Amino acid sequence: MLNEKPVFGFPLPRIDGPLKVTGTAPYAAEYHDPGMLFGYAAQATIASGRIASIDTMEAEAYPGVVKVYTYKNRPSAARSDKKWKDEVALPGHPFRPLENDRILFGGQPIALVVAESFEAARDAADLIRVEYHPDEPHTDITVERAKSYVPPEARKEEMRPTDPRGDAERAYEAAPFKIDVEYLQLGEHHNPMELFASTAIRNEDGTLTVYDKTQGSQNSHDYVCNVFGLKPEDVRVVNAYVGGAFGSGLRPKHQLFFAVMASLDLERSVKVEMSRSEMFYLTWRPATIQRMQLAASADGQLMSVRHHAIQTTSLHEDYQENLVNWSGLTYKCDNVKLSYELVKTTLSTPGDMRAPGAATAFLALESAMDELAYEVGMDPLEFRGKNFVSYDQNDDLQITSKELDTCYRVGAERFGWDKRSHEPGSMRDGNDLIGWGVATGVWEATLTQAEAKVRLFPDGKITVMAAASDIGTGTYTILAQVAAQELGQGAERVSVLIGDSSLPKTSVEGGSWTAASSGSAVQAGCLEIRKTLLSLAQKMDNHPFGNAPVEELAIRDNRLVLDRNDQVGLSIADILGHHGMASVEGHGKVAPDQEQAKKFTSYTHSAVFVEVRIDAELGVPRVTRVVSAIDAGRIINPKTARSQILGGVVMGLGMALHEEGMIDHRAGRIMNHNIAEYHVPAHADVHDIDVIFIEEEDRMASPIGVKGLGEIGIIGVGAAVANAIFHATGTRHRHFPITIDKIM
Ligand code: MOS
Repeated sequence: MLNEKPVFGFPLPRIDGPLKVTGTAPYAAEYHDPGMLFGYAAQATIASGRIASIDTMEAEAYPGVVKVYTYKNRPSAARSDKKWKDEVALPGHPFRPLENDRILFGGQPIALVVAESFEAARDAADLIRVEYHPDEPHTDITVERAKSYVPPEARKEEMRPTDPRGDAERAYEAAPFKIDVEYLQLGEHHNPMELFASTAIRNEDGTLTVYDKTQGSQNSHDYVCNVFGLKPEDVRVVNAYVGGAFGSGLRPKHQLFFAVMASLDLERSVKVEMSRSEMFYLTWRPATIQRMQLAASADGQLMSVRHHAIQTTSLHEDYQENLVNWSGLTYKCDNVKLSYELVKTTLSTPGDMRAPGAATAFLALESAMDELAYEVGMDPLEFRGKNFVSYDQNDDLQITSKELDTCYRVGAERFGWDKRSHEPGSMRDGNDLIGWGVATGVWEATLTQAEAKVRLFPDGKITVMAAASDIGTGTYTILAQVAAQELGQGAERVSVLIGDSSLPKTSVEGGSWTAASSGSAVQAGCLEIRKTLLSLAQKMDNHPFGNAPVEELAIRDNRLVLDRNDQVGLSIADILGHHGMASVEGHGKVAPDQEQAKKFTSYTHSAVFVEVRIDAELGVPRVTRVVSAIDAGRIINPKTARSQILGGVVMGLGMALHEEGMIDHRAGRIMNHNIAEYHVPAHADVHDIDVIFIEEEDRMASPIGVKGLGEIGIIGVGAAVANAIFHATGTRHRHFPITIDKIM
């Protein structure tokens, strides 16, 4: 299959797939150095307060232990007041491990034990004696909401609620049909396969190579250099393979700090890996309360939208999401009021988790739209179509492409929506209550600054280089396809070098922007190669190209040829040989177009259709069918693209039905901090998922025509499930996840 022509649209299997499934793609914790040391972090057992005393003598005496670090002996290199912020930092005071005696959140690392083996470090960590001056924990959003506040500094400008338009209160009062409801969603915890780990290898010349579990090697690199005052050339961060991340790896985590701190201090190689339980305390989607007040006219026109949201953050940082703005964007409405507040808790700072903001927002918005459709007495899909809007009403901008109406139509056809009966509880099949639900999803289509280098050799081999990451999304594969397509080669001839901070500048892999951004940068690099080859050829005697511009040239079978007549051309080997060159390189760069941004904005869209079957006696819900119709621009690889949507849908099922972080609010501690008691969807929870792409090339969204796929797949899924459960049972659930005990 690798020898097939690797044009865009070919379902090339992931080129890193065999390595990943055979366990031979090394993750950050799988690098070794003879004689290296192992670090293990001890965690606070209270959620808030101060350390009264910390006694490490017994731990230090444990066989194999080399050193125990606490706030009292943290090395000076780690005490700098240098820039602690990272590329995706938040307003507030970034967490600094071992900074002082304060306990800001449950599970906070309070000591690092470094030993000759992982087991010795872990055992010794248990021997650290700590006494605390505890303060009261504050972890319950339903209580803390009384102290909500508007974040003084926006994390990003687009996360500020847009200004009100029209008069939402008055329109609400005047409308004949209305709802005023509140949705509660508890925290969800990240559980990628790979645990957080950093292996800091000390090279002979004293420089460091750090293998880090991250979504951005350069972000980790810059963080390490800033915090420890190191020169950029003295540190290299590698994340060649990542075992899932979903947003959890956007910000550097404390194990990176610890590995580098200990390695510099002890002048040894040091590895620090987190436990699954530690990850529960550290990487999670915040708990959210959302009040939706919507009103419609008798013919189903949306008259008023008010969306007020409260989310949890930590004591030291203001984590924020773009949560409420989706409610002013998704449907046509002239009276809109949006507001967003935070509450401080003694939990770690929450973080981005697949479609941060939107996944949560659409849970409420799309449930509320369904509730209002039933108030009006209208089919929920027809109601959405009726309120379709073709431009961005929040910012009064045009949208570069929007095939959401096609998603509705094609998705409904595939699902068989026309066979749905409106009344809840009306579609029983034997012992099963059947429910069909629908929801809309929207996500930003973003182009970030990205660079890539492409090198073409005379034998047709190609090397692509960019710092970009592949967090399981298919970056290796699609970058190979882009280069192969642009340089007329088979994808098997392309070597993709990514996941290394020393490679050309790339943002963290997040926000669904990597294919659009790095793909476009690779494309630009290939264009530069064609230009260079043409100008080199045009310096040769008797070359056949005349004054042809580069647009009329193509590369086929290792020859630079006229696109319209590939008999006319020169071999690349001849061109390079003539000039004594071993290869030709192109350096591609892309950046968002600021002028275009004044008039246009870009989004991906989805329509999600869900069938649930609920056992009438036991209340057990099964999501038996999902149809997800996606508008995400050009699809470079339908196989990797489909996998992104499948993964998003499965995560959405977890959000709707299963994933529930439980906190003992008296202790402020997470009770189910393991994947035995915190249920993520397993195979038995996942049935038929049908993915449809409504393709269009959106060359305004990105030069390559791609809009991005990593996140749109999850958005709307939770609400579609909840709406299907309502349709099956007649009961509205506004408290997520909708676990079996709630359905019974
Ligand atoms: Mo994504 S939550 O930006 O990795």
